[in-house]
Amino acid sequence: MPPARIGTGVRPYFVAEKVSMSKIIIFDTTLRDGEQSPGASLDPKEKLQIARQLSILNVDVIEAGFPVTSEGDFKSVSNIAKEIRDVSIASLARSVEKDIECAAKSLKSAKFPRIHVFLATSKIHRKFKLVKAKEEIIKTAVKGVKRAKKYVDDVEFSPEDASRTEPDFLVEVVESVIDAGATTVNIPDTVGYAIPEQYASLIKNLKENVKNINKAVISIHCHDDLGLAVANSLAAVKAGATQVECTINGIGERAGNASLEEIVMALKTRKDFFGHTTRIKTHEIIATSKIVSGLTGLWVQRNKAIVGENAFAHESGVHQDGVLKERTTYEIMKPEEVGLPKTKIVLGKLSGRHAFKKRVKTLGYELSDEELEHTFQQFKLLADKKKEIYDQDIEALIQDEKSETPHLYELDSLSINCGPVPTASIKLRIGKDKILADSTKGDGPIDAIFNTIDLLTGIKGTLLDYSIRAVTSGKDALGEASVEVEVKGNNYRGRAVSTDTIEASAKAYLNAINKVAIKHRKK
Ligand code: KIV
Ligand code: ZN
Repeated sequence: MPPARIGTGVRPYFVAEKVSMSKIIIFDTTLRDGEQSPGASLDPKEKLQIARQLSILNVDVIEAGFPVTSEGDFKSVSNIAKEIRDVSIASLARSVEKDIECAAKSLKSAKFPRIHVFLATSKIHRKFKLVKAKEEIIKTAVKGVKRAKKYVDDVEFSPEDASRTEPDFLVEVVESVIDAGATTVNIPDTVGYAIPEQYASLIKNLKENVKNINKAVISIHCHDDLGLAVANSLAAVKAGATQVECTINGIGERAGNASLEEIVMALKTRKDFFGHTTRIKTHEIIATSKIVSGLTGLWVQRNKAIVGENAFAHESGVHQDGVLKERTTYEIMKPEEVGLPKTKIVLGKLSGRHAFKKRVKTLGYELSDEELEHTFQQFKLLADKKKEIYDQDIEALIQDEKSETPHLYELDSLSINCGPVPTASIKLRIGKDKILADSTKGDGPIDAIFNTIDLLTGIKGTLLDYSIRAVTSGKDALGEASVEVEVKGNNYRGRAVSTDTIEASAKAYLNAINKVAIKHRKK
């Protein structure tokens, strides 16, 4: 049974008539559209972890999932709605009864719930996907919004593929759903087809021709198929849209969504041009980016704007000289604005608890006393193997510590014979005393490790993705391994770090297998 009415109404600052033109509403869809990135499945605990950070980042809306699609998504939305009280929580639904009731149910405990209903409106989708005439589309959209309105005041409607919808028909759809009670109308460029000027005109056309447009917030949602998602979003803001839908690191379907950090920093840095800002605490951007890339396994390209490793690095001598003389010669933003610590002092073997604790804090992480102590011990072990410990090393250790996967199996020892038939011998520990030991071969050393872990745990995983990268530079850099494994139709991600890349690979695979084992155990 879906609940009766839920939540405490539309947040005052989302009401169209009162929406502040100077503060753009940031609707984060990392946990919904972002999670639709190929290879980025998150479990409910990981989603909750990201939601906590999104709340610290101070986004206005978190789209927590599409609950009708899976039990896991339903659980994620419910957990987030229960815990995150200071942000609006949106739940996605097609314009059908089953989805809307499920979305309402998932938001039962939310303080500020929003149901986000969508239905495709473009000719291509009407003809081939929905096989519905225009009148039927309007009827279904109105019915969906009215149904959602039975449960919540805050209802968003998205005409999917809006940018390829006939502009006049789009006006009709938008006007009808606002009449039906939609408080936000979102205009998606679903397939990343729009061009900035054209997309801005689409928004302008709605503002000029939808009679009741003042009763709803105009939102935009852009995909990056032509690399124009951020440019299109900014052009739409300039044309009058006051909500932007985006994701951390720009992750999302296919080429991804518009990147939150790029939009927010563009609005902030070029306030002179846009005249808008956001409520985002920009100094939390880097920490959020790291948490999302760590948990999704989707690494950020080095030259990515704002959050890439090179975003604030100056290689050329001329640039370095200029920056040293006057920072603004080559830097349009301060690294500290996005959360990059000013200090570049590296820690090492002789650094004590106090220096370590201080650095963890500067990096923007909150650790309990117990977590701090354990991470410090890991830091000391690492410092024995590695002379200089960089911020990225510390962050990798913290992410390991924060990973909430229980360790049913732990790696006790591992040895590899790389001869003509690569063979791995592994001992796994269960609890304090029980040791399982075995060895088997593979096509290469990594394959042999994964096969031996399968043999020891009795869980056969199909490896979908495996990657390894150096966390910092230098021969003694920490290696971060990431794997995606399929077991009985479900995908599991694992990640681990070590100065030994073979060990990191074994631990990452075991991390994924532990998730399977715990799930089976619960069942
Ligand atoms: O891209 C899209 O059209 C969407 C909708 C569900 C808003 O993600
Ligand atoms: Zn989308």
